Amino acid sequence: MKNIYITTAIPYVNGVPHIGHAMDYCLADTFARYNKMVGNAVRFQAGTDEHGNKIFLKARESGKTTQEYVDENSAKFQEFIHKLGVEYTDYVRTTDPKHQDRCQEIWRKLESHIYKAKYDGWYCTGCERFVTEKECEENHGVCPDHQKPYEQLSEENYYFRISDFKEDIKKAIESGEMLILPDFRKKEMLRLLEESPDVSVSRPVSQLTWGVPVPGDDSQVMYVWIDALSNYITVLGYPDVDISEWWPAAAQFVGKDILRFHAIIWPAMLMGLGLPLPKTIVSHGMVLADGQKMSKSIGNVIDPMDVLERHGIDAFRYYFLRHIDTFADSDFTWEKYENAYNNELANDYGNLVQRLATLAMKNNITFNKELDAVLPDEYCKLMDNYEFSKAFDYVWEKIQQLNQRIDEEKPWSLAKNGEVDKLDECMQNLISGLLSTNMMLSPFLPNASEKVCAIFANPITPPEEPLFVKTK
Ligand code: MSP
Repeated sequence: MKNIYITTAIPYVNGVPHIGHAMDYCLADTFARYNKMVGNAVRFQAGTDEHGNKIFLKARESGKTTQEYVDENSAKFQEFIHKLGVEYTDYVRTTDPKHQDRCQEIWRKLESHIYKAKYDGWYCTGCERFVTEKECEENHGVCPDHQKPYEQLSEENYYFRISDFKEDIKKAIESGEMLILPDFRKKEMLRLLEESPDVSVSRPVSQLTWGVPVPGDDSQVMYVWIDALSNYITVLGYPDVDISEWWPAAAQFVGKDILRFHAIIWPAMLMGLGLPLPKTIVSHGMVLADGQKMSKSIGNVIDPMDVLERHGIDAFRYYFLRHIDTFADSDFTWEKYENAYNNELANDYGNLVQRLATLAMKNNITFNKELDAVLPDEYCKLMDNYEFSKAFDYVWEKIQQLNQRIDEEKPWSLAKNGEVDKLDECMQNLISGLLSTNMMLSPFLPNASEKVCAIFANPITPPEEPLFVKTK
């Protein structure tokens, strides 16, 4: 048995959840459930990122106090991940006093790598970071993520000397000591690391008040990323608690847009603290709405609660784990979602369960075979390598094969001809195949797989209502 620590990026609470936020949770929860199934102990963090100017300004717009505003939105994220069936064990909010104290301790420990300097440069208020002259030029002066022109800023800030760690980070990425997935992002990160200047890690209070104060300097507040990245260890109790039982994390799930912070600043912080690096950083692609990036200005933001309400959590997880490729950008449309639900979940899986359970009940068959609890190597390999959409495809092939076998072996004909022994053998094999497949599905579709186990407990009882009620 291994101890496995799994983390998710903590979303900003300057708005409510959208379907893109579901990716970290769907992937991390599937990995967590899979690890529990194979006998590992799992600790699983989630939380919210609650500091920074964007949040401060949004709160002001809403007429609430900043604390009220972040409390409300953080609760919405928590409600969302509950509804998604995410089995996290630890929840961190960056406005928690404990997190803030620990974050200040982390700053103190990093102080020998921090210096104060004046900087003039291009700054994106959306990303809350300075960009290099080259990056500004390449993007024609406009941030591609926020569609906002970069601003000239001149500030006295604290800087974190990334250069102290560059060589070691490079080695860790190249050797796979800190594995970056997918592999093609590794090169991109090595290039960014090479170009990366020391990072500004504070803002003057004249620019930013809603943040963790820099210890020993009332005139400065910590940059949101130092505060946010620390969450992964403060939630375990660092530095008050020895975290070696859980740290280094087995897997940190983040979107590709924030990989650079996790592949450069985060390992530098850990090295400065003398802590080991995470074993794997899994960066997923973006969820697009109808082929486009979701944005409030385009008006194509999809509320995950609407998607959850339509067909429940299994259908949600089915779409996001199978039809949204684990590593590439993929599209969500209501039409694709409905088709996947009706043609695949309801037709392939729901029908298989219904057909087998009805046949078993009609013919008084009880399942008496020892269930093979060994998971196929191919499935485990895909799951261990975070190839979730491929693992899902593998399981679905098994479902389709089972449907085909029913059509070919025609158990109803065996029943009609009174071939009792043959019928029993055929049904035992089919049910055993279904239950093994169901076990592989359980990290993906926890509710449905639990229901299937209950249906095939003895006496086998078909569900009163199909597992997935078709809508067309
Ligand atoms: N607060 C930072 C993360 C700090 S982690 C120490 C942040 N927040 S976020 O709200 O913008 O994003 C939270 C997570 O959701 C990130 O992993 C991000 O990549 C992911 N996504 C946000 N929009 C997304 C899509 N449209 N599609 C897929 N993932 C997306 O970044």
